[in-house]
Amino acid sequence: MASTGIGFGKTILFGEHFVVYGLPSIASAIESKTVATVERSGKYELVDNRLETPGYKKEKFDQQVDSTRRVFEAVKIDPAKTPVKITLAGDLIAASGVGASAASCVAIARALSKEFNLNLNEEQINAAAYEGEKGYHGTPSGIDNTVSTYGGLIWFKKGTPPLMERISMRQPAEIIIADTGITSDTAAVVADVKKSKEADPAKFEKLFSEEEALAKKARAALESSDLPLVGKLMDENHALLQKIGVSCPELEDLVSTAKNAGAIGAKLTGTGRGGNIVALTPGKQLQEQVAKAIEAKGFRALRTRIGIKPPE
Ligand code: MEV
Repeated sequence: MASTGIGFGKTILFGEHFVVYGLPSIASAIESKTVATVERSGKYELVDNRLETPGYKKEKFDQQVDSTRRVFEAVKIDPAKTPVKITLAGDLIAASGVGASAASCVAIARALSKEFNLNLNEEQINAAAYEGEKGYHGTPSGIDNTVSTYGGLIWFKKGTPPLMERISMRQPAEIIIADTGITSDTAAVVADVKKSKEADPAKFEKLFSEEEALAKKARAALESSDLPLVGKLMDENHALLQKIGVSCPELEDLVSTAKNAGAIGAKLTGTGRGGNIVALTPGKQLQEQVAKAIEAKGFRALRTRIGIKPPE
């Protein structure tokens, strides 16, 4: 017998890094998913068949081992006693900035729950994935595993318990997620931001209040489907991310390529210093136009949507 589970890929539209300090953030699941299959086996094994940004899986290998161990521990299954083969697949590319680590944790937790009849509810799946995320980046805010578990478009604030509220758009909107091809190390980048904050608390206080105001405006703009305003606020969010030092020349290049090709907003998404950008490109035609411009420069562009309905 084999059991499968899924985890959604995601993009953070507003507030990455700021979310680590308790500020509000907005993330959307995307259409791509990771699928984990768990089957009983003579020995424990993890086979990773996900497509990847070259080098990603090798770079994350040790973290993946630690993360998977944490997910097993969280769901109280001992792989030494009941060995399983885990296979990771699905159409979410393993890359930085698209929630690949969280999606795999969620997918594995779901598949284990099914295979061992644990009947875990969504909250428990999310909690197990949060434990797994610690293997990738020590002190995750929880936004990635939350959106990867519940899907849809969410407003998120870190805390015990974290705050998650659904945001609904009138209809989904097309985006492009474009990949620098560089794998980023979330723990290292988060630690660097912390150092910069300690070095200049006044600067960060000011940026924090700017981000909070921006996230609130963005939520209202999404709820009223005011996409031009959402795009403008994405640009502003990118500027804040530049100021906290998490952009890099490759991300800047992708952001300007997307904007020059007509994207109505573009920013880095997720950790930064590599990984992906997200560009708002409502309508299939604009989406295609921006994707082509990115691809003409030799980068990969994922055509997907934000605001898709979460599963019932
Ligand atoms: C990474 O996808 C998002 C960060 O804000 C880290 C976190 O929220 O834990 C950079």
